[in-house]
Amino acid sequence: MEITEQLISQIISTAKTAGTFIRKERENFDYTNVEKKGLNDLVSYVDKTAEVMIIKELEKLVPQAGFIVEENTRSEKKDYNWIVDPLDGTTNFVHGIPCYAVSIALEYKGDILAGVVYEVGRDECFSAAKGKGAFLNQKKIQVSERQDLSESLIATGFPIYNFERADPFFKCLNYFIQNTHGVRRIGSAATDLCYLACGRFDAYFEYNLKPWDVAAGALIVTEAGGSISDFSGSNNWLFGKEISASNKKIEKEFNAVIQESFKN
Ligand code: IPD
Ligand code: CA
Ligand code: CA
Repeated sequence: MEITEQLISQIISTAKTAGTFIRKERENFDYTNVEKKGLNDLVSYVDKTAEVMIIKELEKLVPQAGFIVEENTRSEKKDYNWIVDPLDGTTNFVHGIPCYAVSIALEYKGDILAGVVYEVGRDECFSAAKGKGAFLNQKKIQVSERQDLSESLIATGFPIYNFERADPFFKCLNYFIQNTHGVRRIGSAATDLCYLACGRFDAYFEYNLKPWDVAAGALIVTEAGGSISDFSGSNNWLFGKEISASNKKIEKEFNAVIQESFKN
């Protein structure tokens, strides 16, 4: 199936409509609306309503596609699938921290063909179609040119409910804190990947992620010239619950630290 410009602009418009709803709901959002799916795993009617709105639009765009969506308002896996996080950065949202995004990807048998991430607070829309480059608000973007880990800014997400690999994670963090320009935890994996794609970050790693956290952002990174892998340097990052991403120039140095820390 060809990913046309028209399809990308329809996905963008779907993401922006959901983003506008999310922004409006934040104005009078009351913390009593927060429910817990598990330890530190928060959700509210805003996530769920946004997901229903998004699915209603996407099913018109590619009728043969199934859905892999965070809030489970639809669940049917097919050859083509929409992978959707209606609100990536829920903890930020409920606490009023202004960084959260709508993330929508179209996948075909494990390959991401299209990705859109709309960061609501800054009204920044990142998009990519496979083989056609990556864009921020319609302007082409590229990963950074930085060659040295020591001059790089690194993004990550701290573990929030699965602490099984906390020790190797903190070993990595310790190294990066002392040997780079610094480490940021902004609270939205989709946004982390897009900030890498446009050169704000130079590398990013996190474990225990779900496909909807990374599907769209990963395509945006590779289309902007960056690289994506799992922690072992292989390709199992979409369903493998761990991702390492970089501007490609520091990939070797960056992955070596991760591999050394996470080795058994
Ligand atoms: C979360 C964010 C966060 C990451 C968490 C994710 P959610 O997604 O992407 O940055 O560290 O692991 O679960 O729950 O806000 O959609
Ligand atoms: Ca998420
Ligand atoms: Ca979410």
